Amino acid sequence: MLEVKSLTKRYGQFEAVTSVDFALEPGEIMGFIGSNGAGKTTTIKMLATLLEPTHGTALLNGRPLDGNDLEIRKQIGYMPDFFGLYEDIKVWEYLDMFATLYGVEVNDRPRVIDEVLELTDLGFKKQAFARSLSRGMQQRLCLARCLVHNPTMLLLDEPASGLDPRARAELKELIGELGRMGKIVIVSSHILPELADFSTVVGIIERGQMLAFGKVNDVVRSLTPAKKIQVKLLDRGAEASMFLHSKEHVSGTQFLNPNEFRFDFTGTLEDQHALLKAMIDAGFPIIEFMDEEADLEDLFMQVTKGALN
Ligand SMILES: Nc1ncnc2c1ncn2[C@@H]1O[C@H](COP(=O)(O)OP(=O)(O)OP(=O)(O)O)[C@@H](O)[C@H]1O
Ligand SMILES: [Mg+2]
Repeated sequence: MLEVKSLTKRYGQFEAVTSVDFALEPGEIMGFIGSNGAGKTTTIKMLATLLEPTHGTALLNGRPLDGNDLEIRKQIGYMPDFFGLYEDIKVWEYLDMFATLYGVEVNDRPRVIDEVLELTDLGFKKQAFARSLSRGMQQRLCLARCLVHNPTMLLLDEPASGLDPRARAELKELIGELGRMGKIVIVSSHILPELADFSTVVGIIERGQMLAFGKVNDVVRSLTPAKKIQVKLLDRGAEASMFLHSKEHVSGTQFLNPNEFRFDFTGTLEDQHALLKAMIDAGFPIIEFMDEEADLEDLFMQVTKGALN
């Protein structure tokens, strides 16, 4: 488990990261969202032991993330936002070099290299020169490099930037797989929707402060007091809307057509069930009754606006 407590980084007078707290269990994937300069890279570098915190601690399975502790460093896989590839070596040599540096047994290295190449879908480039890879492939190679020593925790700083939609989809798949393997994964991005489908938790950072942390749905719920429910009927739309407005927690109807509308709802899930049951008991011919997905991008803009102002 990763426990981050009051993690703070100051550059001179400027505080880039302010007392960040969170904890992650094995298998959890945290989407780490914030705009440019929010403090994502600074936080990730502290967790990668490449930057010394001004205050606070981070523990991985109870052990401090200390740069002088080689054993703890072996449990971390860090993919930086900008990475240099050594150009005049082949893909497999590059991975072999990192496996060697991380102390993977010589007899295990060929198997490990094949495994990470397969996981990152780069097997067909095993004998290619690193410089001959496209940008997306280089990114995958960098991720493969982070996996050779089978780390407990992966820190991926904007791994999706510069990837085409297919490569992004594949990367999401791969990150999900790392979670299922029981690793702790932190993935940063500017774009909340990009992370929302595979992250088990999200942390929203702005101006160095963690503004929200938790399960995606909980964060959305805590930030949007009302959710929207969409109702579709065979008939009696107007009557159904009036009926709903006589109930608690209901406001703001917006008709999409005479028998389809959405309304704002502030009740609990139990209240929502009771509402649906009341409509059915009253004989309304309902064919759809569903939560509308919150627009994550809107939400992100709303949350971060306050911090930026
Ligand atoms: N070495 C440094 N010296 C002084 N200030 C720094 C240093 N590194 C980062 N900062 C400042 O700390 C803040 C956070 O930067 P950081 O790189 O962590 O942001 P980020 O969230 O990763 O942004 P981006 O999305 O642009 O990558 C910024 O205001 C940045 O200017
Ligand atoms: Mg950054």
